[in-house]
Amino acid sequence: MKLGDYFKNKRVLITGASSGIGAALAIQMSKWDAHLVLVGRNEGRLADVAGKCGQNTALICGDLRDPSVINRIQKSAEAAPMDIVILNAGTASYDADESFDAAQFNELINSNVTTMAHCVQAVLPSLRKSRGQLALMSSLAAYGGLPKSSGYGAGKAAVRLLAQSLDLDFRHLGVPVTCICPGFVQTPLTDQNRFPMPFLIDVDSAVIRIAKGLKARSHEIHFPKRLSLLLKLVMSLPAAWQYQLLRWATARL
Ligand SMILES: NC(=O)c1ccc[n+]([C@@H]2O[C@H](COP(=O)([O-])OP(=O)(O)OC[C@H]3O[C@@H](n4cnc5c(N)ncnc54)[C@H](OP(=O)(O)O)[C@@H]3O)[C@@H](O)[C@H]2O)c1
Repeated sequence: MKLGDYFKNKRVLITGASSGIGAALAIQMSKWDAHLVLVGRNEGRLADVAGKCGQNTALICGDLRDPSVINRIQKSAEAAPMDIVILNAGTASYDADESFDAAQFNELINSNVTTMAHCVQAVLPSLRKSRGQLALMSSLAAYGGLPKSSGYGAGKAAVRLLAQSLDLDFRHLGVPVTCICPGFVQTPLTDQNRFPMPFLIDVDSAVIRIAKGLKARSHEIHFPKRLSLLLKLVMSLPAAWQYQLLRWATARL
């Protein structure tokens, strides 16, 4: 089966569809004739993406921290069960030099983890009925602690464990749960970064890698392999070696 055929006529919900990876996923899936429900916060940008996706597109506009938006997602999933739900929305911010801000940490956990948990609860009953699949957006930053990334890394690690745990609980019931772990992808989020981003890839390449992993119903989608396999290797070493290697590799950040 060709990659695009897998998504033809599938009902796909994507959060964070107004920008970056989510927007590019939506546009590509529309070319494959998926029926889309797109969730995003910025009304104008979400409408622009919808305009590129054609008529099989419904929109839910609002902030995922608002319970009424979660409620609308649940209603939409109940009205027409989803085949694929991609919980992609997320934000990033980094610690200032030699400081730690608990409020910023809390905000990242709320935006990147807590909202995702509410979305999971909203869509899971419908996914169980349709035996659909769920994908949660984590990051290669989840593989281990990195400098200045306390909130972002901890949040993405929580998402990764959330996905692994849900996969154990629901895959055998017909709902595979995939964790998506990208390295650096060029999007408005990374455009703000002022540090070197090794192995940065373009958003369309990221979309194809994600689509292939969804078609394979993978447990984890990780890319680019040069970076993900290197990180997996480093994180398999004793903690003291990990520390030395990561200190050396990130000294200029
Ligand atoms: N780019 C990378 O290198 C990279 C690498 C690893 C993982 N990721 C993850 O991939 C996901 C997408 O990132 P991206 O690079 O595509 O970033 P992006 O261009 O900034 O897009 C983020 C999307 O999430 C939405 N969003 C954020 N907080 C939200 C909230 N509270 N309620 C509703 N929507 C919210 C944004 O909506 P608005 O624009 O409407 O505000 C936007 O649609 C994130 O979870 C990110 O952590 C990205």
